[in-house]
Amino acid sequence: MAEAQVAGVELSSGQVLPPVTYGTWKLDDAAAEVAVREAIDEGYRAVDTGQRYHNEAGVGAGVRAASVPRDRVLVTTKLRGGDQEREQSKRSFKASLRNLGLDYVDLYLIHWPLPRLDKYVECWQSMRELRDEGLIRTLGVSNFTAEYIDRLVAETGEAPAVNQVELHVGFQQAELRRQMAERGVVVQSWGSIGRGKGLLEDHRLQQISAAHGVTPAQVALRWIWEQGVPCIAKSGNPRRRHENLSIHDFHLTEEDLALIASFEQERVGKDPEVAEEF
Ligand SMILES: NC(=O)c1ccc[n+]([C@@H]2O[C@H](COP(=O)([O-])OP(=O)(O)OC[C@H]3O[C@@H](n4cnc5c(N)ncnc54)[C@H](OP(=O)(O)O)[C@@H]3O)[C@@H](O)[C@H]2O)c1
Repeated sequence: MAEAQVAGVELSSGQVLPPVTYGTWKLDDAAAEVAVREAIDEGYRAVDTGQRYHNEAGVGAGVRAASVPRDRVLVTTKLRGGDQEREQSKRSFKASLRNLGLDYVDLYLIHWPLPRLDKYVECWQSMRELRDEGLIRTLGVSNFTAEYIDRLVAETGEAPAVNQVELHVGFQQAELRRQMAERGVVVQSWGSIGRGKGLLEDHRLQQISAAHGVTPAQVALRWIWEQGVPCIAKSGNPRRRHENLSIHDFHLTEEDLALIASFEQERVGKDPEVAEEF
């Protein structure tokens, strides 16, 4: 079944996040332009970048060159940590918009909370004003704990529509998912296939994938989707990119879910409470 035909998850803004967003971290501008155009043409309907990825220009060019109308592709980018000051965050957003060559961004995220810097509330205010100007459709955050989200709500009255976090079979985030559901915040996963750090070689994923005649990556992504979580997956390889989109022709069994529940839980990325990324 083509990705474009499978309904995604509706956000509080009314926009819909499809089951699989195409991730672009580590693609340079030239590679991103080709990969994003091809990804959209073959069925992806959402693309994820960030100012820190240094590829917004390539991503935007790919979106503009694709055969699908701009308004049917959800484009996410992110505010870098060093730009969280109130006025600087507005300048930074406008630089992202220029890089992308687009009139608006669908989903704009605070990339990391950087609690030591203590500026995530002031940039959230700026982002709300940019949204009111029609430059952003949906506001979100990334790598936020429930505590940081509660502070945004207490000080501005508005919760993010999305919290994009590390989440995969090896770091299932059950507690965070529960907390976000309580707050009406949609969780989106990054690192969904373990970031090339050995998760896919796990014998349990291999066993489940062999039983279904699919790949370990497809099992990993299918599990996320069956939790009701839309994911991001990145591949610079066209065959794997297509594979990551094709997760709707099988269902995990009770036995599969029990095996996946037995995974040791460990981050492969940074801890948001201490991560410093500017
Ligand atoms: N908000 C944040 O702080 C944050 C942090 C990290 C990532 N992200 C976003 O999330 C996206 C995904 O995260 P990620 O790129 O770190 O990790 P990922 O999607 O879990 O894994 C990507 C790695 O897996 C490989 N891979 C992809 N598909 C595969 C398949 N079907 N079979 C085997 N290997 C496969 C890729 O290699 P090939 O390219 O060679 O296929 C790459 O090495 C990023 O691109 C970015 O857009 C956000």
